[in-house]
Amino acid sequence: MTDPVSSFAPRLLAWHRLSGRHDLPWQNTRDAYRIWLSEIMLQQTQVETVIPYYARFLAAFPDIAALAAAPVEAVMGLWSGLGYYARARNLHACAQQVVREHGGVFPATAGQIATLPGIGRSTAAAIAAFSQGERVAILDGNVKRVLCRAFGIAGFPGSTAVEKQLWSLAESLLPAAQIGDYIQAQMDLGATVCTRGTPRCGMCPLAEDCVARRSGRVAELPTPRPRKRPPLRQAHLAIIRHAGAVLLERRPPKGIWGGLLVLPEIEGEDVAAWLADRFGVAAQSIKRGEVLRHTFTHFVLDITPACIALPGDAMPTLTDAQQWVPMTALAEAALPAPVRSLLAR
Ligand code: ADE
Repeated sequence: MTDPVSSFAPRLLAWHRLSGRHDLPWQNTRDAYRIWLSEIMLQQTQVETVIPYYARFLAAFPDIAALAAAPVEAVMGLWSGLGYYARARNLHACAQQVVREHGGVFPATAGQIATLPGIGRSTAAAIAAFSQGERVAILDGNVKRVLCRAFGIAGFPGSTAVEKQLWSLAESLLPAAQIGDYIQAQMDLGATVCTRGTPRCGMCPLAEDCVARRSGRVAELPTPRPRKRPPLRQAHLAIIRHAGAVLLERRPPKGIWGGLLVLPEIEGEDVAAWLADRFGVAAQSIKRGEVLRHTFTHFVLDITPACIALPGDAMPTLTDAQQWVPMTALAEAALPAPVRSLLAR
C-alpha cells in the first residue's frame, strides 16, 4: 500500500489525463473573467445546463467592462432559468467593483478574490488556480465528498470542526505543479466517479486506499447533515370519569391519531371554566397529573393530564364524536399509545 497522502495528487493527475474532461468551454483559457463566470454558473448547476447559458452570456458580455456597464435587468435576463438569482446580482456587483477598485482587472490572488461579492474561499481558490496557477486548495461539495470517503472522515462536512479538518487535509494534498489540472481532476472525479448516489468505485484511481471503500462505509460517508431537534408542543388532556366510564372522543379520519379514540383536549388555562363551557357541568374534583412525553416523527408532545371526577348526578352534554367508554372496555378500545398509558396510570 502506498502512502495515501503523497499518492493522492499523482493518482488524480494520471486519472485526469486519461479520463477527465478537457474540452469544456471554460477550460483552456487563463482569462479570469471567463473562469470566474463559469465557476459562478457551475455553483449548484450541472455542466450540461450551464454550457448554453455560458455561451449566450459571453456573447452579450465579452469582458468584465461590458458586464459592469450593463443594466442589471439585462444580466438577470440572461440568467433567467439558471436559478439562484442572487448569483447573478452578485456577479453584476462584483464586475462593477472590479472595474471601480481594480481598474477592470480581476485581482490575482485567491485571498484578494475572496473579498469580492459572491465569491467564497473555494471559488476564489479555483479562479486563482485556473487563471494564475496559484497553488491553493479548493473545497466544494464534490471535494468534501471525495476527501471524506478517501480518508474516512466522519461528521457532517458542513460543520466548522470537520470543515477545518478538510481544509488542512486539502492543503496537505496539493501537488507541487499542475495545480489547474489537479483542481479540475478533483472536480471531475467528484462529478463523474465519486458521486453521491452510486459511486463508480471500480473506475476510481483512489479505490485501492479509499478508507470508506475498505471499511464498507461508502454509503455512510460523507455523514449527512444532523437532523434539527423536533419542536416541543404542549397539550392538556382531560381524563373525565363518571359512573365507571371515561369520556373519549373519536378523532377525524385524517391527521394525528386519525380514527382513534382520544381524551378531550382542554383549551385555556382554567379547567373548571372549560368543563362548564363544553359540557355544562361542574367537577367534584380536578387533579393535575404527571406530564407524559411522547415523540412523534416531526415533533415532541408533552401531555399534561387533568383527572376530573364528576358527581354521580351530573348530566354532561356530549358532541357526536364523544362517548363514555366503560373502564372495563378500555383494553379493547382503539386508543393511541400515550392515551393508553395515561389511562393505565
Ligand atoms: N464545477 C465547478 N467548477 C467546475 C469546473 N471548472 N468544471 C466542471 N465542473 C465544475
